[in-house]
Amino acid sequence: MVELRLPANSTIREGKRFPAPAGAKRTREFRVYRWSPDDEENPSVDTYVLDLDAVGPMVLDALLHIKNEVDPTLTFRRSCREGICGSCAMNIDGENTLACLKPIESISGQVKIYPLPHMPVVKDLVPNLNGAYAQLASIEPWLKSDTPAPPDEERLQSPEEREKLDGMWECILCFCCTTSCPSYWWNGDKYLGPATLLAANRWIVDSRDDHTAERLAGLEDPMSLYACRTIMNCTQTCPKHLNPAKAIANIKKMQHDRE
Ligand code: SF4
Ligand code: SF4
Ligand code: FES
Repeated sequence: MVELRLPANSTIREGKRFPAPAGAKRTREFRVYRWSPDDEENPSVDTYVLDLDAVGPMVLDALLHIKNEVDPTLTFRRSCREGICGSCAMNIDGENTLACLKPIESISGQVKIYPLPHMPVVKDLVPNLNGAYAQLASIEPWLKSDTPAPPDEERLQSPEEREKLDGMWECILCFCCTTSCPSYWWNGDKYLGPATLLAANRWIVDSRDDHTAERLAGLEDPMSLYACRTIMNCTQTCPKHLNPAKAIANIKKMQHDRE
């Protein structure tokens, strides 16, 4: 597969313009990043002028309208269309968010739509997240217990123990946070990034997990965790209103308390 890392300072070509349908009264321009492995003239930005009276309220509705009615070559990921699957994460109006949760009316003027920043692009708005998924797998995001599960009931937690997981189990792994993080942009091969570190903290604080010390020790090198510079982009951009920066701070505190 040919891939392109989204360049921060490259010139992006003006692409095609698709005019508004005849008779449209309430129009809006959607400026959409295009990149194709089969094209020699990448990247470009196409302009689609849509009739808002013919489109649903969210940016994802506009993308679906473009794909179904205007230009079937436009490529993007989506599944649930209600903020659960994380597939439709992209950069809209300069912010990483979910297209299905972003109202068109919350944006004034042109609607600018790009892939998640600083990731290789597979096609158009589809980033290659293989590296991020491999990093997630590296922290072993599952319960690791040394005791067999009770034969006839779940592994129980007190309400207080369960409460410690709030603010983390809700993560939908959209990677909006990770791809908004300057530390990850520059050191994404070594720094795990906020989404994976939030997942790490979720298992570190789980009362049913017996590998807390091992999990903390695995993050002690200078880059995996400590490349976080507390810039807070991650928390600011999370479309589920989670706080990865706080989770990262908790891991650092637990490591410090062990010393
Ligand atoms: S707080 Fe850490 S993880 Fe979040 S954006 Fe800043 S450097 Fe990245
Ligand atoms: S913490 Fe928020 S932004 Fe980051 S992956 Fe989870 S849901 Fe997405
Ligand atoms: S389509 Fe599932 S989160 Fe947007």
